[in-house]
Amino acid sequence: MFVVLLGPPGAGKGTQAQRIAAASGLLHVSTGDMFRENVKNQTGLGRLAAEYMDRGELVPDEVTIKMLLERIGRPDAAEGAMFDGFPRNVVQAVALDEALATRGARIDKALLISVADEELIARLGGRWICRSCGRLYHERNDPPKRPGVCDACGGELYQRDDDRPDVVRTRLEKQKPPAGLIEHYRNAGVLREIDGQRSLDEVTSALLEALQ
Ligand code: AP5
Repeated sequence: MFVVLLGPPGAGKGTQAQRIAAASGLLHVSTGDMFRENVKNQTGLGRLAAEYMDRGELVPDEVTIKMLLERIGRPDAAEGAMFDGFPRNVVQAVALDEALATRGARIDKALLISVADEELIARLGGRWICRSCGRLYHERNDPPKRPGVCDACGGELYQRDDDRPDVVRTRLEKQKPPAGLIEHYRNAGVLREIDGQRSLDEVTSALLEALQ
Protein backbone atom coordinates (compact mmCIF):
# COMPACT_ATOMS: atom_id res chain seq x y z
CA MET A 1 0.00 0.00 0.00
CA PHE A 2 1.24 3.49 -0.85
CA VAL A 3 -0.09 6.32 1.31
CA VAL A 4 0.51 10.06 1.39
CA LEU A 5 0.05 12.09 4.58
CA LEU A 6 -0.88 15.68 3.78
CA GLY A 7 -1.22 18.63 6.14
CA PRO A 8 0.28 21.97 7.11
CA PRO A 9 3.54 22.24 9.09
CA GLY A 10 2.89 21.00 12.62
CA ALA A 11 -0.31 19.09 11.77
CA GLY A 12 1.18 15.91 13.22
CA LYS A 13 2.28 14.13 10.03
CA GLY A 14 5.61 12.97 11.46
CA THR A 15 4.19 11.97 14.84
CA GLN A 16 1.38 10.00 13.28
CA ALA A 17 3.62 8.44 10.62
CA GLN A 18 5.88 7.09 13.40
CA ARG A 19 2.84 5.64 15.20
CA ILE A 20 1.30 4.14 12.05
CA ALA A 21 4.64 2.66 10.98
CA ALA A 22 4.97 1.02 14.41
CA ALA A 23 1.40 -0.31 14.28
CA SER A 24 1.33 -1.44 10.64
CA GLY A 25 4.93 -2.01 9.57
CA LEU A 26 4.46 0.42 6.67
CA LEU A 27 7.75 2.09 5.66
CA HIS A 28 7.88 5.76 6.76
CA VAL A 29 9.48 8.05 4.16
CA SER A 30 9.91 11.67 5.31
CA THR A 31 11.52 14.11 2.87
CA GLY A 32 12.05 16.55 5.76
CA ASP A 33 13.99 13.89 7.71
CA MET A 34 16.02 13.04 4.58
CA PHE A 35 16.97 16.69 4.10
CA ARG A 36 17.84 17.09 7.82
CA GLU A 37 20.07 14.00 7.64
CA ASN A 38 21.89 15.53 4.67
CA VAL A 39 22.25 18.86 6.49
CA LYS A 40 23.68 17.06 9.53
CA ASN A 41 26.18 15.15 7.35
CA GLN A 42 27.09 18.34 5.47
CA THR A 43 26.52 16.79 2.04
CA GLY A 44 26.15 18.93 -1.10
CA LEU A 45 22.41 18.19 -1.06
CA GLY A 46 22.27 19.19 2.60
CA ARG A 47 24.00 22.53 1.94
CA LEU A 48 21.60 23.28 -0.90
CA ALA A 49 18.49 22.21 1.07
CA ALA A 50 19.53 24.25 4.13
CA GLU A 51 19.37 27.49 2.13
CA TYR A 52 15.64 26.90 1.60
CA MET A 53 14.78 25.20 4.89
CA ASP A 54 16.36 28.01 6.94
CA ARG A 55 14.03 30.49 5.23
CA GLY A 56 10.96 28.27 5.64
CA GLU A 57 10.69 27.70 1.90
CA LEU A 58 10.30 24.53 -0.14
CA VAL A 59 13.42 22.96 -1.65
CA PRO A 60 13.18 23.08 -5.49
CA ASP A 61 11.08 20.33 -7.04
CA GLU A 62 13.78 18.80 -9.23
CA VAL A 63 16.06 18.25 -6.21
CA THR A 64 13.28 16.88 -4.00
CA ILE A 65 11.79 14.61 -6.66
CA LYS A 66 15.20 13.14 -7.55
CA MET A 67 15.90 12.36 -3.88
CA LEU A 68 12.45 10.82 -3.35
CA LEU A 69 12.56 8.67 -6.49
CA GLU A 70 15.96 7.35 -5.49
CA ARG A 71 14.54 6.44 -2.06
CA ILE A 72 11.51 4.58 -3.37
CA GLY A 73 13.70 2.67 -5.81
CA ARG A 74 15.30 0.81 -2.89
CA PRO A 75 14.13 -2.75 -2.11
CA ASP A 76 12.51 -1.88 1.23
CA ALA A 77 9.98 0.36 -0.60
CA ALA A 78 8.95 -2.31 -3.10
CA GLU A 79 5.74 -3.29 -1.33
CA GLY A 80 4.61 0.07 -0.04
CA ALA A 81 5.41 3.24 1.86
CA MET A 82 3.85 6.12 3.74
CA PHE A 83 5.03 9.49 2.46
CA ASP A 84 5.27 12.27 5.07
CA GLY A 85 5.98 15.72 3.63
CA PHE A 86 5.82 14.60 0.00
CA PRO A 87 4.24 15.62 -2.30
CA ARG A 88 3.86 19.36 -1.59
CA ASN A 89 2.42 20.33 -4.98
CA VAL A 90 0.93 18.86 -8.15
CA VAL A 91 4.30 18.62 -9.93
CA GLN A 92 5.62 16.38 -7.14
CA ALA A 93 2.35 14.39 -7.02
CA VAL A 94 2.48 13.66 -10.77
CA ALA A 95 6.14 12.60 -10.54
CA LEU A 96 5.22 10.16 -7.75
CA ASP A 97 2.19 8.84 -9.67
CA GLU A 98 4.34 8.24 -12.75
CA ALA A 99 7.07 6.47 -10.80
CA LEU A 100 4.54 4.18 -9.08
CA ALA A 101 2.74 3.50 -12.39
CA THR A 102 5.96 2.10 -13.90
CA ARG A 103 5.79 -0.67 -11.29
CA GLY A 104 2.02 -1.18 -11.54
CA ALA A 105 1.27 0.67 -8.30
CA ARG A 106 -0.59 3.83 -7.31
CA ILE A 107 -1.35 5.98 -4.31
CA ASP A 108 -4.04 4.04 -2.46
CA LYS A 109 -4.87 6.66 0.19
CA ALA A 110 -4.19 10.35 0.69
CA LEU A 111 -4.89 11.37 4.29
CA LEU A 112 -5.23 15.11 4.89
CA ILE A 113 -4.73 16.15 8.54
CA SER A 114 -6.40 19.51 9.24
CA VAL A 115 -5.45 21.77 12.18
CA ALA A 116 -6.14 25.49 12.80
CA ASP A 117 -3.26 27.99 12.53
CA GLU A 118 -3.10 29.01 16.21
CA GLU A 119 -2.79 25.36 17.25
CA LEU A 120 -0.05 24.78 14.61
CA ILE A 121 1.98 27.68 16.04
CA ALA A 122 1.68 26.26 19.57
CA ARG A 123 2.65 22.78 18.38
CA LEU A 124 5.74 23.90 16.46
CA GLY A 125 6.91 26.19 19.28
CA GLY A 126 6.78 23.32 21.80
CA ARG A 127 8.19 20.54 19.64
CA TRP A 128 11.29 18.61 20.78
CA ILE A 129 12.97 15.82 18.81
CA CYS A 130 15.38 13.06 19.79
CA ARG A 131 18.77 13.51 18.16
CA SER A 132 19.35 9.74 18.15
CA CYS A 133 16.07 8.03 17.19
CA GLY A 134 13.93 10.93 15.91
CA ARG A 135 11.03 10.34 18.35
CA LEU A 136 8.86 13.49 18.47
CA TYR A 137 7.69 15.16 21.70
CA HIS A 138 5.77 18.24 22.70
CA GLU A 139 6.65 20.02 25.94
CA ARG A 140 2.96 20.33 26.93
CA ASN A 141 1.00 17.80 24.84
CA ASP A 142 3.39 14.84 24.81
CA PRO A 143 6.29 15.56 27.19
CA PRO A 144 9.19 13.19 27.84
CA LYS A 145 9.39 11.70 31.35
CA ARG A 146 12.67 13.59 31.97
CA PRO A 147 13.04 17.03 30.32
CA GLY A 148 15.55 16.94 27.46
CA VAL A 149 15.90 13.13 27.45
CA CYS A 150 14.22 10.68 25.04
CA ASP A 151 11.99 8.08 26.74
CA ALA A 152 12.63 5.59 23.94
CA CYS A 153 16.44 5.61 23.70
CA GLY A 154 17.84 8.08 26.27
CA GLY A 155 19.05 10.41 23.48
CA GLU A 156 19.31 14.18 23.76
CA LEU A 157 16.25 16.23 22.69
CA TYR A 158 16.63 19.34 20.49
CA GLN A 159 14.44 21.96 18.83
CA ARG A 160 14.50 22.46 15.04
CA ASP A 161 16.05 25.69 13.68
CA ASP A 162 13.01 26.18 11.43
CA ASP A 163 10.66 26.16 14.45
CA ARG A 164 11.75 29.75 15.27
CA PRO A 165 8.67 32.05 15.21
CA ASP A 166 9.80 34.05 12.13
CA VAL A 167 10.45 30.89 10.08
CA VAL A 168 7.22 29.27 11.30
CA ARG A 169 5.32 32.30 9.98
CA THR A 170 6.82 31.80 6.50
CA ARG A 171 6.22 28.05 6.57
CA LEU A 172 2.56 28.55 7.44
CA GLU A 173 2.22 31.12 4.64
CA LYS A 174 4.00 29.07 1.98
CA GLN A 175 3.73 25.41 2.87
CA LYS A 176 0.08 24.55 3.45
CA PRO A 177 -1.11 21.90 0.97
CA PRO A 178 -2.29 23.88 -2.08
CA ALA A 179 -5.90 23.45 -3.29
CA GLY A 180 -4.67 21.88 -6.55
CA LEU A 181 -2.85 19.12 -4.65
CA ILE A 182 -5.92 18.29 -2.57
CA GLU A 183 -8.03 18.26 -5.76
CA HIS A 184 -5.50 15.92 -7.40
CA TYR A 185 -6.19 13.26 -4.77
CA ARG A 186 -9.91 14.02 -4.50
CA ASN A 187 -10.23 13.46 -8.27
CA ALA A 188 -8.34 10.17 -7.91
CA GLY A 189 -10.95 9.08 -5.34
CA VAL A 190 -8.38 8.43 -2.59
CA LEU A 191 -8.66 11.54 -0.35
CA ARG A 192 -9.78 11.28 3.29
CA GLU A 193 -9.86 14.33 5.56
CA ILE A 194 -8.99 13.79 9.21
CA ASP A 195 -9.64 16.26 12.03
CA GLY A 196 -6.15 16.64 13.51
CA GLN A 197 -7.26 18.82 16.37
CA ARG A 198 -7.93 15.94 18.71
CA SER A 199 -5.73 13.95 21.06
CA LEU A 200 -2.76 12.08 19.61
CA ASP A 201 -4.50 8.72 20.21
CA GLU A 202 -7.77 9.84 18.63
CA VAL A 203 -5.97 11.05 15.50
CA THR A 204 -4.00 7.78 15.29
CA SER A 205 -7.24 5.76 15.54
CA ALA A 206 -8.91 7.87 12.83
CA LEU A 207 -5.92 7.42 10.50
CA LEU A 208 -5.70 3.67 11.10
CA GLU A 209 -9.42 3.40 10.47
CA ALA A 210 -9.03 5.34 7.19
CA LEU A 211 -6.28 2.94 6.13
CA GLN A 212 -8.49 -0.16 6.55
P1 AP5 B 1 9.14 18.72 7.12
O1 AP5 B 1 10.04 18.14 8.14
O2 AP5 B 1 8.31 17.82 6.29
O3 AP5 B 1 8.27 19.83 7.87
P2 AP5 B 1 6.72 20.23 7.79
O4 AP5 B 1 5.92 19.75 6.64
O5 AP5 B 1 6.76 21.68 8.04
O6 AP5 B 1 6.09 19.42 8.90
P3 AP5 B 1 6.62 19.33 10.35
O7 AP5 B 1 7.63 18.23 10.44
O8 AP5 B 1 7.00 20.67 10.89
O9 AP5 B 1 5.26 18.97 11.12
P4 AP5 B 1 4.45 17.64 11.23
O10 AP5 B 1 3.15 17.78 10.51
O11 AP5 B 1 5.28 16.44 10.90
O12 AP5 B 1 4.13 17.69 12.79
P5 AP5 B 1 4.75 16.84 14.00
O13 AP5 B 1 4.27 15.44 13.94
O14 AP5 B 1 6.22 17.07 14.10
O15 AP5 B 1 9.98 19.65 6.13
C1 AP5 B 1 10.99 20.52 6.60
C2 AP5 B 1 11.52 21.34 5.44
O16 AP5 B 1 12.09 20.46 4.45
C3 AP5 B 1 10.46 22.16 4.68
O17 AP5 B 1 10.28 23.42 5.27
C4 AP5 B 1 11.09 22.25 3.29
O18 AP5 B 1 12.07 23.25 3.25
C5 AP5 B 1 11.79 20.92 3.13
N1 AP5 B 1 10.94 19.91 2.47
C6 AP5 B 1 10.44 18.77 3.04
N2 AP5 B 1 9.70 18.10 2.14
C7 AP5 B 1 9.72 18.82 0.99
C8 AP5 B 1 9.12 18.64 -0.29
N3 AP5 B 1 8.35 17.58 -0.56
N4 AP5 B 1 9.35 19.58 -1.23
C9 AP5 B 1 10.13 20.65 -0.99
N5 AP5 B 1 10.71 20.90 0.21
C10 AP5 B 1 10.51 19.98 1.19
O19 AP5 B 1 3.99 17.54 15.22
C11 AP5 B 1 4.33 18.86 15.63
C12 AP5 B 1 4.26 18.96 17.16
O20 AP5 B 1 2.90 18.84 17.57
C13 AP5 B 1 5.04 17.87 17.91
O21 AP5 B 1 5.64 18.44 19.02
C14 AP5 B 1 3.94 16.87 18.34
O22 AP5 B 1 4.28 16.25 19.59
C15 AP5 B 1 2.74 17.79 18.50
N6 AP5 B 1 1.48 17.11 18.13
C16 AP5 B 1 1.26 16.37 17.02
N7 AP5 B 1 -0.01 15.93 17.00
C17 AP5 B 1 -0.62 16.42 18.12
C18 AP5 B 1 -1.95 16.30 18.66
N8 AP5 B 1 -2.92 15.60 18.05
N9 AP5 B 1 -2.21 16.95 19.81
C19 AP5 B 1 -1.25 17.66 20.43
N10 AP5 B 1 0.03 17.80 20.01
C20 AP5 B 1 0.34 17.18 18.84
